[in-house]
Amino acid sequence: MKKIFVTRKLLKENEDKLKKYFDVKLNSTDKIYSAQEIIDGSKDCDGIFSTVTDLISAQTINKLSSNIKIIANGAVGFGNIDFIAAKKRNIVVTNTPDVLTDATADISILLLLGASRKAYEARAEAETQSWTWSWDFMLGKQMSNKKLGILGMGRIGRAVAKRAMGFNMEIHYHNRSRLSEDIENGAIYHDNLKSLLKESEFLSINCPATKETEKLINSDTIKFLPDRCVVGNAARGDIIDDNAMVAALKNGKIFALGLDVYNGEPKIHPDYLKLKNIFLLPHIGSATKRTRWDMAYRATDNLITFFNGRKPKDQVN
Ligand code: DGY
Repeated sequence: MKKIFVTRKLLKENEDKLKKYFDVKLNSTDKIYSAQEIIDGSKDCDGIFSTVTDLISAQTINKLSSNIKIIANGAVGFGNIDFIAAKKRNIVVTNTPDVLTDATADISILLLLGASRKAYEARAEAETQSWTWSWDFMLGKQMSNKKLGILGMGRIGRAVAKRAMGFNMEIHYHNRSRLSEDIENGAIYHDNLKSLLKESEFLSINCPATKETEKLINSDTIKFLPDRCVVGNAARGDIIDDNAMVAALKNGKIFALGLDVYNGEPKIHPDYLKLKNIFLLPHIGSATKRTRWDMAYRATDNLITFFNGRKPKDQVN
């Protein structure tokens, strides 16, 4: 039986399934391992079952035992793994697309709604139990009938578009390439970011974190957004330049921001914690039991396929 090093504690059902197929080294305390602990812990293993909290750099990859043939990342994002360095060492890297599309799209909408309708401030007001209804109390920005810009029209972006249609929004998107008309489903394509931002009364960030998307939303690009727009990010913190975003929130260029992901999470830019026009969540895009089951089952299936001598369906390198 092949041996798998599992970096984090999985849900019971997922650990049970893994045990049926593999000899597993589980993490019963759920401690987040350091790079060295991953290297040492996986020494006698054939594969690693990792996730978003594991930073597996080129340096780490180069120190892994030569037994390690696959890193199955239990996440759709795989920016935490240097998959190019892995390829150089003939280590296959896989991710878990599809299964978290709906859960993450739901959270993308929640971010836009939570930010635009002042959910954070409103909750604090409710807690005082001394608020009074008045004509100008807690006035937010209505999402219905507005233009929504989607940065990254992959599976999750398209699921956000579908939901936004229920709000009668006009959908705009920017992607590396235009989607076919049937997949586009009436959404308006922008071949450059500037053109998308100009239309985005609401902006939903749903693109992967890559070298090209790092700090894509910065002081130069924020200028193109309509005044008093709303921004939500359910993708990765790296895509936003936090200092530029804080400045735009302070001067009112951006009406409100919803975030589920952060640069250097769990740390959060200190100014985000001080501002009221922000709606913050702790990276819960995929946090439903059904989705977490499916993510870990998918990673397990990738391991099974690989060790059966076939190419895993979610190989990314
Ligand atoms: C992913 O799969 O990349 C998500 O961010 C995990 O919640």
